[in-house]
Amino acid sequence: MGSGLILAIESSCDETAAAVVERGAHTLSSVVASQIATHARYGGVVPELASREHLRAIVPVVRAALAQAGVALADLDALAVTSGPGLAGALLVGITYAKALAFATGLPLIAVNHLEGHIHAVLLNEREVGREAGEPPVSEARPGASAALPMTDDEPALALVVSGGHTHLYLAEPRGGTWRYKLVGRTLDDAAGEAYDKVAKLLGLGYPGGPWIDALAQFGNPRAVPFAFAQIKTKLHLAGKTPRTKAARTAPIADLDPRFLFSFSGIKTAVLRYVELRGLRREAPIREGQSTFPKTAPDALKISPQGTLDLIASFQHAVVGDLMKKTFAAAESLGARRILVTGGVAANRELRTRFAAEAARRRVRVSFPTLALSTDNAAMIAAAAWPRFVAGDFARPDLSAEPSLALGRS
Ligand code: KG4
Ligand code: ZN
Repeated sequence: MGSGLILAIESSCDETAAAVVERGAHTLSSVVASQIATHARYGGVVPELASREHLRAIVPVVRAALAQAGVALADLDALAVTSGPGLAGALLVGITYAKALAFATGLPLIAVNHLEGHIHAVLLNEREVGREAGEPPVSEARPGASAALPMTDDEPALALVVSGGHTHLYLAEPRGGTWRYKLVGRTLDDAAGEAYDKVAKLLGLGYPGGPWIDALAQFGNPRAVPFAFAQIKTKLHLAGKTPRTKAARTAPIADLDPRFLFSFSGIKTAVLRYVELRGLRREAPIREGQSTFPKTAPDALKISPQGTLDLIASFQHAVVGDLMKKTFAAAESLGARRILVTGGVAANRELRTRFAAEAARRRVRVSFPTLALSTDNAAMIAAAAWPRFVAGDFARPDLSAEPSLALGRS
């Protein structure tokens, strides 16, 4: 093993990203080119536009990642790329580029599951924080320990991956230097981030909706509208009914505990009905691409009337409450004393505060990535690739995009 440096590429959705990370523990560079401006006017990701933007961005983004890290291709030990799940055309841009780079340099290529990447975003962050606090480097932490695993990594964790495309619960277990994942729960329809985006869209807020709802919710009354999440009925899924959306069909649900299943499509309709019933409308249109979020109540009222702010706060309170209830119940049921929350929605302030308070109450540990590591990035892909590199788990030459790639099912 040489430098321990991995260059990773991520292009599964609407961010073109590249990063150089040392031994899954030290980020030398992490470059993210966002396509938000391209997709904002459509209120969602347009796959064809995403592929075109990835094609435009991939070369400069990879160059920037190498330049910012101050390394050349010759200094690297391996390349890594997201192979799925995600948009087929978008994934292919990263994969094709990574394969060409591997061929040209002779470097091994590691294929990474995007969801595994999100889980490793938290682990990477913990290692970086530990290193900055002066803890010994991972490989010196414990004689004989695998360089891939610092001391804190040897206990199982319950991971909630909550983003625009996913709301999944996994039991993540370190075993012999690599990680094993077991799918424990998932959404039957929309992802939580999708609900945020749809609710924001129907209220006329900016795209993506999560950060807007996050910013506005603090000025509303979370108890104004009593949204409720019904317990998912056992019969429905055990009877072999297929989930309603394509995304939800990509993993089996029949053998999952119904207590750990989510459904976020109903609350969007409930919000719509409430808006119609009350005749609520936003007051000032939010310009596309505007990114100054309100910091004071008068600022928030310039965007939405108080009734809408109360609705927003109630929506968020209900969603976070549901995520929390099921995540902690799953952790308790599986005996995990450690919870990782990751993905775009993990950036949410109310979610972080309430998860932290509940974890303290239950005496379990909860960790989040930094805000930059919460949303899509390539540093998390490089971090997830490291244990695979140590184990010699390389991609086959015929590696291709796997848009429906599952995690925790084998
Ligand atoms: O992980 P990510 O960047 O991409 C996917 O893999 O989906 O997550 C994007 C999602 C979007 O739905 C966005 O609205 C949501 O994460 N999001 C948030 C916040 N920041 C981003 N949701 C709630 N609160 C936030 N602060
Ligand atoms: Zn993601």
